[in-house]
Amino acid sequence: MNTSLVRHEPDRNLALELVRATEAAAMAAARWMGRGAKESADQAAVTALRLALGTIQMDGIVVIGEGEKDEAPMLYIGEEVGNGAEPKVDIAVDPIDGTRLLSNGMPNALSVVALAERGTMIVPAHIAYMEKIATGPEAADAIDIERPIAENLERVAKAKGKNVADLTVVILDRPRHADMIAEIRRAGARIKMITDGDVAGAVMAAMPDTGVDLLLGIGGAPEGVVSICALKSIGGNMQCRIWPRNDAEWQIVRDEGIDVTKVLGMNDLVRSDNVFFAATGITDGELLQGVHYAGDGATTESLVTRSLSGTVRRVKATHRLDKLARYAAVSFD
Ligand code: FBP
Repeated sequence: MNTSLVRHEPDRNLALELVRATEAAAMAAARWMGRGAKESADQAAVTALRLALGTIQMDGIVVIGEGEKDEAPMLYIGEEVGNGAEPKVDIAVDPIDGTRLLSNGMPNALSVVALAERGTMIVPAHIAYMEKIATGPEAADAIDIERPIAENLERVAKAKGKNVADLTVVILDRPRHADMIAEIRRAGARIKMITDGDVAGAVMAAMPDTGVDLLLGIGGAPEGVVSICALKSIGGNMQCRIWPRNDAEWQIVRDEGIDVTKVLGMNDLVRSDNVFFAATGITDGELLQGVHYAGDGATTESLVTRSLSGTVRRVKATHRLDKLARYAAVSFD
């Protein structure tokens, strides 16, 4: 058999490989909790994540990363990661989603990686934000980003067998959301404002028993694509629209003929059903416990999902830092 003709698809074992990588990034970053040093925390997470990803059997290309090569020495867009063997995959990394949360010791900072078959993650180039709406499986068919917020709230409430007053909407606390927040309040739903971290927000909206029903608002475009990778396994729905933030981005929209009214569904932004998502808590939060240290050890909690099977795993791990120190290339001190 000519093996060069065999197509290698991302295999289920990748899920556990990815979680090892986000655990390493979280453990490296968590030492910086509350120290007000965003850059150092990010550096620690990026270094650990890159080393861990390098050991995984895959031919990966970073499509969502720390930025362009010139400003990001590591995990830049276009960087090749993995040991170079099949499968060919797209990699999205968010070594710390919520760098401010971490540097202030606030809840829900996560280390995140997503993976999909090569060429299937579509990331809006040079546009920072997207408008987003996301919810879990029960209300997946109820949301429509083109309809008014009050109508979405009514439809989600109906789908979940609740009243609008019972719903909790998670939204980034930003001045750009003033009108949206007023609209949610007028409709009578409850609001959970977050200072950062709308990947955690989207995942909470999709997972059962988090107390969050819906994510609304304008947040990072890359974070939107990463969240979709999680929702493809957890179930639920997310819709987005490009949201140019300034004149320069409106110029890009005009030059490239981008339709900002187009609703981007999950399959528009991630065109694969073989998608993996892993996230490890850095700081304690409602979604995941953060890294806790005790003597020579540390504990982590992660979520790892695979869309082909729809499996969502919560992985609690105990790490022996004294043992890791003997062979790991990453320092967790
Ligand atoms: P970083 O950790 O990269 O700073 O991102 C945090 C975050 O809150 C994202 O979760 C969110 O999508 C985005 O920033 C919102 O952007 P902004 O802070 O510019 O409103």
